[in-house]
Amino acid sequence: MRISVIGCGYLGAVHAASMAKLGHDVVAVDVDPGKIERLAAGEAPFFEPGLPEILTEALASGRIRFTTDMAEVAGARVHFVAVGTPQGPSGAADLTYVDAAVASLTEHLSPGEFVVGKSTVPVGTAARLAEDVSRAVPGATLVWNPEFLREGFAVQDTIAPDRLVYGVPSGPEGEAAVAALDEVYAVALAEDTPRLVVDLATAELVKVSANAFLATKISFINAMAEIAEVVGADVTALADAIGHDARIGRKFLNAGLGFGGGCLPKDIRAFQARATELGVGESLAFLADIDAINLRRRAHVVDLAAQALGGDVRGKRVAVLGLAFKPNSDDVRDSPSLDIAARLLEQGAEVAAYDPEAIPTARRVHPELDYVDSAEAALTGADLVLVLTEWNEFRALDAATVAGLVASPVVIDGRNCLDRDAWRAAGFAYHGMGR
Ligand code: UDX
Repeated sequence: MRISVIGCGYLGAVHAASMAKLGHDVVAVDVDPGKIERLAAGEAPFFEPGLPEILTEALASGRIRFTTDMAEVAGARVHFVAVGTPQGPSGAADLTYVDAAVASLTEHLSPGEFVVGKSTVPVGTAARLAEDVSRAVPGATLVWNPEFLREGFAVQDTIAPDRLVYGVPSGPEGEAAVAALDEVYAVALAEDTPRLVVDLATAELVKVSANAFLATKISFINAMAEIAEVVGADVTALADAIGHDARIGRKFLNAGLGFGGGCLPKDIRAFQARATELGVGESLAFLADIDAINLRRRAHVVDLAAQALGGDVRGKRVAVLGLAFKPNSDDVRDSPSLDIAARLLEQGAEVAAYDPEAIPTARRVHPELDYVDSAEAALTGADLVLVLTEWNEFRALDAATVAGLVASPVVIDGRNCLDRDAWRAAGFAYHGMGR
């Protein structure tokens, strides 16, 4: 099928390359000529496992082309809108890019074609845009098909999603949209992927409520970590024990520094802002606590660092291992790890920071930090070791070797990812999260 993808950021670039991988003929559009040039040369603009391979394959097969010219989308049957919805100053989502993309796309749209929103938007946006589209191009239909991809697994999540959600209008237009999307996702549907057909508002809500739920799960376990820290209990064992209850489940119960990234933090704030606009702010008032618990984790680790260094971090050499908001990503948007590194520097510590992938992105946000090119360089002479992102490289560190590099054997395991017993056996004072 001929498909267009508007927006070549994280979501759009992965979606475009994945659609080509599935055999579709894709034209991908972005307003940023630099981004388009890099993608057209087969270069992924961010670190994402598997993306360079499928991008190269798609370019070689001729099934994908990148352009800044919106007119080139003409003739595609399905147009995916995958532009960003950043957090605005009030916490509400900024819809400038979505509105501009749909308006510009509409100029090149023909009857019988489908505009498929993928961006995360405040509930009610799709209905408004659907009206604009059908008024401008009678016979063209806007539907919503939210995306649940996780960074680090984005290609896999796009090609083999765990569910497909189609938000469509009722009646023949909606039926035609379902048929078109079924054709787009034929490969996943052949694998019996659950497919839910809902109305536009439900589709928008599915996305933000899924993220609100995940954020709640993480903050719940971090709240338990706060209690465990006071009474000397072990939150990891607690998570294992409650996780065996199938109604709870063990996933997303890892206590640590909390959630960051381009989605969860901004999405829970935008969801609260939208609920308030709708007059039901009270329904989501609890998300303010979820956010507050999450942000307290960072402050807690900064305090713990000071305590571990005898009350003051000034002049102390701190090895920071991990800057990305999660492993297998170079994304530092709202990253707890980078935030903690910057706060320690601000308080006078000498921070030597290392991450396997995220140094270039971190440097753009915090150029003042001292970035080193290996874990060993960061650890050498350190008064305190902070493991802040659970890369396998850090899990695999040999505690005895590290003990030989540092000036003082003290470690804060911000992600509970180290073998506590092995580090203690190597002589380290070990501080975990809620254990
Ligand atoms: C998230 C959702 O998972 C995804 O479905 C949605 O489409 C986009 O937002 P992502 O931002 O890639 O995906 O990251 P995710 O794996 O959800 O992790 C988010 C943050 O939570 C990370 O900072 C991670 O370290 C943290 N986290 C996750 C925890 O602190 N504890 C956990 O148990 C799980």
